[in-house]
Amino acid sequence: MTTATAPSATDLFARALRYENRADPYPHYAQMLRHPVARMDDGSWLISGYQEIRQLLHDPRSSADRLDPQNKAPKAARSLLLQDPPLHDQLRRVVTQEFIPRIMGMRDHLGELVARLLDAHTGTGPGQLNIVADLAYPLPVTVICELLGVPREDEPLFGSLARRLTRGLDPVDTQSEEELRELDEARGELINYLEGLITQRRTSPGDDLLSGLMFHPDPDQVMDPIQLRVTLGLLLIAGHETTVNLIANGTLALLRNPDVLARLRTDPDLATPLVEEVLRYDPPVQMSGRSALADIDIAGTTIPKGSRIRLMLAAGNRDANRFADPDLFVPDRRDNAHLGFGGGIHYCIGATLARAEAQIALAAIARRLQSPRLVTDPPPYRENAILRGPEHLVVAFERLTPDGAPAA
Ligand code: HEM
Repeated sequence: MTTATAPSATDLFARALRYENRADPYPHYAQMLRHPVARMDDGSWLISGYQEIRQLLHDPRSSADRLDPQNKAPKAARSLLLQDPPLHDQLRRVVTQEFIPRIMGMRDHLGELVARLLDAHTGTGPGQLNIVADLAYPLPVTVICELLGVPREDEPLFGSLARRLTRGLDPVDTQSEEELRELDEARGELINYLEGLITQRRTSPGDDLLSGLMFHPDPDQVMDPIQLRVTLGLLLIAGHETTVNLIANGTLALLRNPDVLARLRTDPDLATPLVEEVLRYDPPVQMSGRSALADIDIAGTTIPKGSRIRLMLAAGNRDANRFADPDLFVPDRRDNAHLGFGGGIHYCIGATLARAEAQIALAAIARRLQSPRLVTDPPPYRENAILRGPEHLVVAFERLTPDGAPAA
């Protein structure tokens, strides 16, 4: 008789990252959850349990400065996402002050943008939409460019840079030499682009967020030129490469659960809890990382000082010790404190904006597309493992009704 040995944490992590498993990494996360805190062969730690992830997100000994040795950027030239207090808190305060007031009261504008994108496809008969290219990508991109003050004509250039750069977030060993070289090139192009934009704003400020950061009334709050560029890059990339997956993953969940789609059609308020459930069930950011500044005791184990920590947010969201029936999509789930936006001091700054965009987009899809169905299920996925989502999501429909027209 042979006894099958359970796969190691190293194997499970590799399987979860493998492209052939991109459409459904969840069975691999379920296996990880049998050992919520596990050491990998390279000495890093794989954390998949909900409580354990939360504990580490809130522990000041778990540092956000987790850059892999390949990245040569000096510490001061890293974004707030990778900084610890006190510099993190200082940078975050300035960004929040400029960002949050600009997104308040934006819902009507978001509704108009969604309507305009869908109107381009309104017709009398059957048709198809690529939800990614036609709605989920252009919506957040337009919004973040407007907010920050990136000229519309630069958008295609910036969009392709953002795409090339986000691949750089994935673990280095999943990328080829050529991809790594390409990444360095893209970093250089981004720096040039952002510096040009900053120089231009210096002589002609506007009322956008970039101008707000550059001309802050309190001189102590003005960022140095390098931090300004890095922060701008972070916001632009976050605005390009995350919400797209929330809208696409949400559309996928709706089309795979026609009863939920029908409910959303008659009850648009369902969009609020439904988007939270998408953030739990199929989160756009699958994992994050930290490093241990001291020995950290967790779940009966000690993570030694200096270790790299991998926080599997998407696995924690399916932890049966925290969520009832974790593999079920429950659009009105209560008690849904998911990890989709992280937690602790690095909790996502764009959460309110991303939620609003997704709620409005998904409600409009349910309202306006008659008899929508997926053309390919599962859809093709993007290469990225961390910022995970479909490359294309083609939906066929009987009719795309004009806004305001009664649903058949
Ligand atoms: C669905 C869309 C989004 C998701 C799922 C998401 C997810 C996350 C997560 C998980 C973190 C925490 C990372 C960590 O702790 O290591 C984070 C941080 C952050 N996000 Fe988002 N994000 C989204 C959209 C946005 C948008 C639209 C923006 C801004 C334009 C944004 C800006 C940021 C920033 C600046 C941080 C760093 C905060 C800090 O370090 O204090 N995000 N996001």
